[in-house]
Amino acid sequence: MSEIQLPQFPEPYWREMKLPTFEKLTTSIKADVGIVGGGITGITAAYLLSKQNLKVVLIDSDEILNGTTGHTTAKITAQHGLIYDEFMKHMGEEKTAKYYHAAIKAKEFIKNTILENKIDCDYETQDAYVYTNDDNYIMQLENEIKAYGKLEISGEYLSEMPLNLPVKAAVMMKDQAQFHPLKYLKALVQASKDNGVEFYENTTAVDIEYNKHPNIVTKDGHRITCNHVIAASHFPFYDKQSFYFARMYPERSYVLAINSKLKYPGGMYINAESPSRSVRSTPGEKGALWLIGGENHKTGQGESVIHHYEKLEDFSSKHFEMKNIAYRWSAQDLTTIDKVPYIGAVSKGESNVYVATGYRKWGMTNGTAAAMILADKITETPNEYADIYEPSRFQPDPSVRKFIEMNADVAKHMLKGKLDFSNNELAQIKPDEAIVTRINGKRTGVYKDKEQTLHAVDTTCTHLGCEVEWNSGDRSWDCPCHGSRFSYEGNVMEGPAKKPLAKVDIKSEHG
Ligand code: FES
Repeated sequence: MSEIQLPQFPEPYWREMKLPTFEKLTTSIKADVGIVGGGITGITAAYLLSKQNLKVVLIDSDEILNGTTGHTTAKITAQHGLIYDEFMKHMGEEKTAKYYHAAIKAKEFIKNTILENKIDCDYETQDAYVYTNDDNYIMQLENEIKAYGKLEISGEYLSEMPLNLPVKAAVMMKDQAQFHPLKYLKALVQASKDNGVEFYENTTAVDIEYNKHPNIVTKDGHRITCNHVIAASHFPFYDKQSFYFARMYPERSYVLAINSKLKYPGGMYINAESPSRSVRSTPGEKGALWLIGGENHKTGQGESVIHHYEKLEDFSSKHFEMKNIAYRWSAQDLTTIDKVPYIGAVSKGESNVYVATGYRKWGMTNGTAAAMILADKITETPNEYADIYEPSRFQPDPSVRKFIEMNADVAKHMLKGKLDFSNNELAQIKPDEAIVTRINGKRTGVYKDKEQTLHAVDTTCTHLGCEVEWNSGDRSWDCPCHGSRFSYEGNVMEGPAKKPLAKVDIKSEHG
């Protein structure tokens, strides 16, 4: 391991800038369109719909741009790893071509919007590379470039790349792009505000009620009555018996922003094998920042989170003459059963409530494509790409729920652990650390903050009863089953769970 220190707290480089703030919603209101989620999908949809003279209200349970969009590596590319050969085999050439063209249209939309609004957001055209240093993946890369040929994607098969990494083969996609996502979206928020969009922060949507129109119900009991709802909250806050949690799996990944002694050679890179590695650069105040990402694993199922950062640190020292680590952060992404996002009506036959989710790691193009598709649906404009994303392409299977409940139950019964905690055990927790113990027979997570205050929660996830695990890198309790995340105080940070973890009162429990 290198001598270089990891930053103590996770903080994405993108959020260093000043962002607008908005009040909480304190009354019931009406709108044509209610949008839940202030990331790239929600904000782009608000921007597009406000240009059509629709009254749009956007709410976010936290601050806007603090979810997945604020934690991305922000590559604007149709090269979503090795997918085109796989998609051609699974869904045929025509649908695969639609997926590619939807991503390219999204890329063009971003570029045109930047030009139109004169947005200064470090936009640069870059070639994208997927590479391998593992013989087992060479055939996949060869098949991928053949798929590029059939789809008329401009690219090349290479045996070396501008970036100096050990490589056996690479597939390059020409003229993709990168930018500073929050500089871009801040400008879209301003333009949307100028068009009359109302934004509310710290306003959590908990349900939709139907009267004549759908009403978004907030945690505080206010209602947004609207003609259309877009659930762009990463995990859909509203499911309508569609079992999204059983049709997607959550993965976490990590990013370091480093300064290097080397000059960045250009390009955006991702490898094909595990452990995953992704590299791009962005202009920083002290010269180029290299964004080194990877170490993907299923949420709640990894080793100690800090080890993932340390592995990226080792990789950066070994290959890029790292000087220092300026930022570190992590992200959670959702992947659907067939790797194509769910964009469209939340359930079959529904024409007023839409979801957009399951972007894997490719939220800049998939999120923008989703906003364009949903804006077209609402304004009843034909969209040639919409059909491939329809969430109803998989029929929800209620038996899946049963299966998961059963598994969760088994998992609970298989829990190993102590019969009960001792004072000594709690005293030994170091500040900013957590343990899992048993209090009165119940599995309990205890976190000690820097002021030595203990925060204890029941570790049973309030979604379907799996047991959450401590995420030391982000100080959260993460559920391995469907990716719900809770703060150390038990509050929901990420769904599908809607209710907080039950707090455990250590003093009274311990007498
Ligand atoms: Fe489903 Fe925890 S049991 S997210």
